[in-house]
Amino acid sequence: MKILLIGEKGQLAWELIRTLMPIGEVIPVDYPAFDITNKSQIEDTVSVIQPDLVINASAYTDVDGAESERERAMAVNAEGPGRLAQICHTGRIPLIHYSTDFVFDGTKRTPYVETDTPNPINFYGVSKLKGELAIQATTDSYLIFRLAWLYSARGNNFVNKFLEWAKKYETIKVVDDQIGNPTWARFVAEATTAILAQSLCSGEPLVDWVRQRAGVYHLTSDGEASRYDWACKIWEYASNREQLRVKEVLRAKSIDFPTPAARPAYSPLDCEKIYSSFSLTIQNWINHLRHHLFQ
Ligand SMILES: NC(=O)c1ccc[n+]([C@@H]2O[C@H](COP(=O)([O-])OP(=O)(O)OC[C@H]3O[C@@H](n4cnc5c(N)ncnc54)[C@H](OP(=O)(O)O)[C@@H]3O)[C@@H](O)[C@H]2O)c1
Repeated sequence: MKILLIGEKGQLAWELIRTLMPIGEVIPVDYPAFDITNKSQIEDTVSVIQPDLVINASAYTDVDGAESERERAMAVNAEGPGRLAQICHTGRIPLIHYSTDFVFDGTKRTPYVETDTPNPINFYGVSKLKGELAIQATTDSYLIFRLAWLYSARGNNFVNKFLEWAKKYETIKVVDDQIGNPTWARFVAEATTAILAQSLCSGEPLVDWVRQRAGVYHLTSDGEASRYDWACKIWEYASNREQLRVKEVLRAKSIDFPTPAARPAYSPLDCEKIYSSFSLTIQNWINHLRHHLFQ
């Protein structure tokens, strides 16, 4: 199986390159050599590579930047995926795409299920939701996995940022009024691979197998936490504790740290649908974090 993987240098794609290797030939591409906003470049790449599957792990992920760079966010997160879906549909190629918990407004008090109505409160969320809708309107052989609060060894994620702050400051304030699912990118990559492995075992053409299961699925590490809870666990399990200056992590409120983009106060995702559809093993976010920090 030939897999065209878009977004090569991103934190999720970096994990996918490794987990997908046993089940196929992965051909990674990334900006600027490959630009998802450029239709003819997508067409040329697909026509040269002739993939059996396309995975789009690229995105404009700067949540605050998206407020001022709206056109760019929309082009990368919505229009590009829509065009990609069109090309996949024409070529009968299944598409895997990733979205976000930020499609929700955060006013619920129990985890969001796939049938809950999205209502993004920032432009990043708007652009990602438009991407989901563009794919759904264009092709029928697709899987959209909504992720949340992603971290890995690479990238500008909260775990890496906290560890940097912890080396510099004795006191760190972290908000306790944003609740979500800290999610290990390696787990998402492994789950994506496990799902694809099931399709290979079925013996059915992948495009048909995906079509029968097409839809939006929530996919996160299990369990919810505030950013403050998350920070405390990163500190507790950090493997380089002797290099850290931090002596206390204090609770703060989002109002103390104004940002250009609003964040949902409560955006945990209920993952029952993906766990039961694909018999995935549920793993708690604290176990994932410990595993990640002990590597
Ligand atoms: N990070 C999170 O907390 C989070 C939470 C929920 C959902 N998600 C979703 O999960 C997926 C993976 O996120 P991630 O954190 O791995 O993202 P990431 O680390 O920011 O990587 C995204 C990749 O896409 C590339 N890219 C940007 N514009 C492009 C373009 N025009 N054409 C081709 N590639 C382009 C980026 O290249 P440059 O670096 O050169 O721009 C980067 O390599 C995304 O769909 C994201 O929306 C992420």
